[in-house]
Amino acid sequence: MSPIRPHTAARMENIAPFHVMDILARAQALQAAGRDIIHLEIGEPDFATPAPIVEAGVVALRAGHTHYTGALGLPVLREAIADFYAARWQVAADPARVIVTPGASGALLLTLGLLAGPGDEVLMADPGYPCNRHFARFCEARAVTVPVDAASGFQLTLNLIERHASPATRAVLIASPSNPTGTAIAADELAHIHDWCASHGVALIVDEIYLALTYDGSEHSAARWDDVFVINSFSKYFLMTGWRLGWLLAPAWAMDDLERLAQNLFLAAPTPAQHAALAAFAPATLAELDARKAELRERRDFLLPALRERGFIIPTQPQGAFYIYADCSAHADDSFQFAQALLEQAGIAVTPGLDFGQHQPQRYLRVAYTQPLPRLIQAIARLDTFLKK
Ligand SMILES: Cc1ncc(COP(=O)(O)O)c(C=O)c1O
Repeated sequence: MSPIRPHTAARMENIAPFHVMDILARAQALQAAGRDIIHLEIGEPDFATPAPIVEAGVVALRAGHTHYTGALGLPVLREAIADFYAARWQVAADPARVIVTPGASGALLLTLGLLAGPGDEVLMADPGYPCNRHFARFCEARAVTVPVDAASGFQLTLNLIERHASPATRAVLIASPSNPTGTAIAADELAHIHDWCASHGVALIVDEIYLALTYDGSEHSAARWDDVFVINSFSKYFLMTGWRLGWLLAPAWAMDDLERLAQNLFLAAPTPAQHAALAAFAPATLAELDARKAELRERRDFLLPALRERGFIIPTQPQGAFYIYADCSAHADDSFQFAQALLEQAGIAVTPGLDFGQHQPQRYLRVAYTQPLPRLIQAIARLDTFLKK
């Protein structure tokens, strides 16, 4: 008897893969064949986790910290995170409202799991971080993707929210600075959105995973309001992507439900990683992280004018993260094909706009400056040769 394949859930139809994986797979095949590929497609810093954090992780493992923590995380880490808000962003955050999660991914899943279900709508920008719409789908809710462009710095505005909201709107999700555009939301616009959400009983979720990587303007945290779901992570600024650690600062009223949900979804965030992260807040470690941040800024300041001089349109200054969302329509009609040609002919891997939504994806490429400056200089030289062809 031939086995009958079990059914897959209907939601799987809507969970798209990352198209960049095709680019990455091809890049790896070219590399295996001896080609030198410059990787500007990867959304994580190239820097290693600072040594004091690694050391604290090793010490924790040796000391036997390999059991579960409470679902909300180590109390001492929740306090350290709250202190970081005060020191870095001049915001008083109650440690009792901090939940340590498996990455910002875990925090997003918890938040949407709490807020959204069948028939509910979650507003988010398009282009945006692709997992957000999939998290909403996973919760059987509808991601309402709002087309944004340079006119609003690729961010939602109150006006756009009012136009796309419905009685089913349960949450507005903002990421600032944004992936893939690196652009940040203005403080006054966020304040207008916050007031609108508060007066309509709509939750405001602000993903600040790149906030500490803001190069221009102020790092204004939405944690200044205690009714916002503020998401952050040790992945990007803290250079700990693989440790899988993030956090959520939630309104007090949501904590009991979130704790229950965290217990059930993942029991707790990884224990050795939580101990390691305690070392991230030491002044010497923060100084190292800020030096890395300065390096990222230097890369942006090289790459941004270099791309603009070569006909890529980048109308809004990317103020943070490590991404430039470049309009390549002066060179090609289809950014996916352009990305493929760039890889094959110039050995440069970038992410096509297709991964970030449905609003003009064929015009855009995301270029991640997650390579050292000499490699970026080399990439621009290769790009010149490529564009001359
Ligand atoms: C905007 C944004 N949010 C959340 C995440 C998830 O990060 P992590 O789960 O590693 O903390 C990412 C990762 O690239 C991101 O770009």
